[in-house]
Amino acid sequence: MKKYQSNNFIAGKWETTGNGAFQIVLDKYLGTEIGKLPNATETQMETAIVSALEAFEITKKWSAGKRAAMMNSLYLKLEEKKEDFINLIINEGGKPRSYAINEVDRSLTTLRLAAEEATRFGGEVVPMDWGAGEGKTAFTKRFPVGVVACITPFNFPLNLVMHKVAPALAVGCTTVIKPAPQAPLTCLAFAELMEEVGYPAGVINVLVCDIPVAEKLVKDDRVAKLSFTGSDKVGWHLKSICGKKKVTLELGGNASVIVDEDVDVESISDSIAKGAYLYAGQICISTQRIFVHEKVFDRFQSALIQSIKKLKVGDAQDGEVSVGPIIDKGHLNRIHEWVTEAKNKGAKVLVGGSIKSNEHNLYEPTLITNSNSSMKVVSEEVFGPVAVLERVSSFEEAIKMTNDSKYGLQAGVFTNSFKNYKLATDELEVGGVIMNNIPGFRIDHMPYGGVKDSGLGREGLRYAMEEMTEGRLIVY
Ligand code: SIN
Repeated sequence: MKKYQSNNFIAGKWETTGNGAFQIVLDKYLGTEIGKLPNATETQMETAIVSALEAFEITKKWSAGKRAAMMNSLYLKLEEKKEDFINLIINEGGKPRSYAINEVDRSLTTLRLAAEEATRFGGEVVPMDWGAGEGKTAFTKRFPVGVVACITPFNFPLNLVMHKVAPALAVGCTTVIKPAPQAPLTCLAFAELMEEVGYPAGVINVLVCDIPVAEKLVKDDRVAKLSFTGSDKVGWHLKSICGKKKVTLELGGNASVIVDEDVDVESISDSIAKGAYLYAGQICISTQRIFVHEKVFDRFQSALIQSIKKLKVGDAQDGEVSVGPIIDKGHLNRIHEWVTEAKNKGAKVLVGGSIKSNEHNLYEPTLITNSNSSMKVVSEEVFGPVAVLERVSSFEEAIKMTNDSKYGLQAGVFTNSFKNYKLATDELEVGGVIMNNIPGFRIDHMPYGGVKDSGLGREGLRYAMEEMTEGRLIVY
């Protein structure tokens, strides 16, 4: 076994022991054991926090040039180990090969952009040479907040870790990370790269642990910031117990896509099918609700069904597969229960609707119609290969239905009407409106985050760097 398959990384040391219990990490398609990590103790969490505080005394003094140079070395190491990371993401995340390659490429970009941003990032000049400020000059300088507690999800075990660690490194913060129990190995392997590059002990700590130990990290007043990606229920709970620290929450969604009456529906059905079913829908901005103008509904429905039938379901290692395994049996069964609930309440299943393989945790790409907001497949985040397709009589109705949700992460809008483009921009209650594309569109430097229950604050390097720093005003 490699170090990252059996150890936590605490204060620069690889630790095989914990509280006596272990987190077994499985290959998500084969079900075989690929890692066994000790659940960290409270004392180990304390050691991690103290080491991150000590390391911050070093990194906060590094110049922007030094921070960027260290990150550039890390970039080269990651590039060298690219194939290992692709395989880790396929194995522990169950992410189809082509998409795992995409994740590692994106992670490299995230890291490179953060290194570049480190050398550009600064404060602002505050003009005040008038009234009581006459003759004075003022500017803000940004300072790193300190230790960042990072809690990361299973679905992007590298790039969503990178979206927390890279901005932290760029501004001189240090990190204590609790990775998702289902897929922690990639994060630990990345910590190993940081060790090889020569980051001081404590700049990154990675601990698999139980909830009370994770909550110790979240509650600790010496920790300056919490950056959480995961479910809305857990995220808002953590915010309620984290005291006065800064908080960024990247939470769930039930993203919608709107298809207007003037759209060439045959040309967009493949893209919408991918947006709903890629990686078995286990993406926060996966398309879950599809609202289509009645004038093009029937044509769109046939095209979408054809597009769904083209998707290959199966082994994530297979380069042709786009719908791989569900992360664990619990989620597989939950998804099926939600589809069954919808059927029992009168919904019609147009495609799929069943478990495809219990052995490999596969669920059929599923398309449902005649749905309503009393059904969990509509109102909750499915995080599975399930979408609902509904007919609307106007663009305005589609906007209303999109907004009829506790969530508001991103929405996709297909229209050729400038009036409706403007309406969508002004009226949709979301963090991002993606025109003529699916809600799953994300480029790593763009501001990314939600409104309503979908979150608080923004990631996307510069935006995360702002949230990991405080501006100090200097007047002279
Ligand atoms: C997420 O699932 O929140 C991240 C989506 C992405 O980075 O593409």
